[in-house]
Amino acid sequence: MLDLKRLSREINSKIQEINDRESLEVIKTNYLGKKGIITEAFKILGQIDPEKRKSFAAELNLIKSDLLNDINNFQSKINFKEIETKLKLETVDITLPVNEIRRGKIHPVSQVIDELTSIFSEIGFSVAEGPDIENEFNNFTALNTPEHHPARDMHDTFYLDDDKKFLLRTHTSPVQIRTMLKNKPPIKIIAPGRTYRCDSDMTHTPMFHQLEGLHIGEEVNMGHLKGCLEFFLKKFFEDDNLEMRFRPSHFPFTEPSAEVDISYKLENNKIVVGKGDKWLEVLGCGMVHPNVLRNVKINPKKFQGYAFGLGIDRLAMLKYGITDLRSFFNGDLRWSEHYGFDANDVPTNYRGLSK
Ligand code: DAH
Repeated sequence: MLDLKRLSREINSKIQEINDRESLEVIKTNYLGKKGIITEAFKILGQIDPEKRKSFAAELNLIKSDLLNDINNFQSKINFKEIETKLKLETVDITLPVNEIRRGKIHPVSQVIDELTSIFSEIGFSVAEGPDIENEFNNFTALNTPEHHPARDMHDTFYLDDDKKFLLRTHTSPVQIRTMLKNKPPIKIIAPGRTYRCDSDMTHTPMFHQLEGLHIGEEVNMGHLKGCLEFFLKKFFEDDNLEMRFRPSHFPFTEPSAEVDISYKLENNKIVVGKGDKWLEVLGCGMVHPNVLRNVKINPKKFQGYAFGLGIDRLAMLKYGITDLRSFFNGDLRWSEHYGFDANDVPTNYRGLSK
């Protein structure tokens, strides 16, 4: 018959040796497994002399429950130890510098808007805004472009209703109207923003960006306009010797009107701006038409001023050598990675715009 005293001693000494999950499993199988010593002992209880059987069984049960108890205790100790080592191994030092970050990029249009704002703020312009959805009064009528005026058809307007009362603004010029209706002269503002025309090819997208300029005062004249635009273009292209010319033109809301060209040449099929025998149109401008001033209740006998409008996307293409306008709005991450700017590259007048 199995010597239970010996068995108990044996188990106690084996238990002392447990130090990991494997040694624990070995003891479990050896004593409590299907063919384990204790399991086997229970199987042969029936063969034992009935007088001794009861006390034998009681003692065997005690040994079994003690063993199960010990096993459970060890099990939780081992679990705890394992979690502790895992935590130690997986500790992250959050004070260490990160070695790879995927940074987003600033879109060239946003960058150029910041550059323009920075340049014009240096000579006293503040930023004004208007909504993308305009009424036809602000977009056309008030700008001396009445109904049936041919200039309306040239704009490829997206109308929003059958009465043609609301539309997506075709230029930023309506911000002139909004600003003059709200404020009294002197006024000196720029208004960058989205504009829309039903047009799409290599150099046109249905949505594009313009920047409007407006300066109204008692003695603002064409000389101021010229000085302002020369200052701006030289700063923007970062070239003090940039060649430019004013060419007579026509806009309903200015009189006289002009377009400004800058000179350029082609080098290896790439446009190099500043010098050369070719001219490139970059903006429209002129002295605000007296009718426009009257439309916003400003006395044209007392006040006058100049206005200008330019295409921001086009300027971005010229300055940063981007050839396809449509790529601006495709949302291709590889494009942004290549042409985009670092978030820390904030253009400022004193630190430089793009260098
Ligand atoms: N609004 C004109 C356009 O979209 C651009 C323009 C020309 C704006 C002359 C002006 C200006 O303020 O004086 O084609």
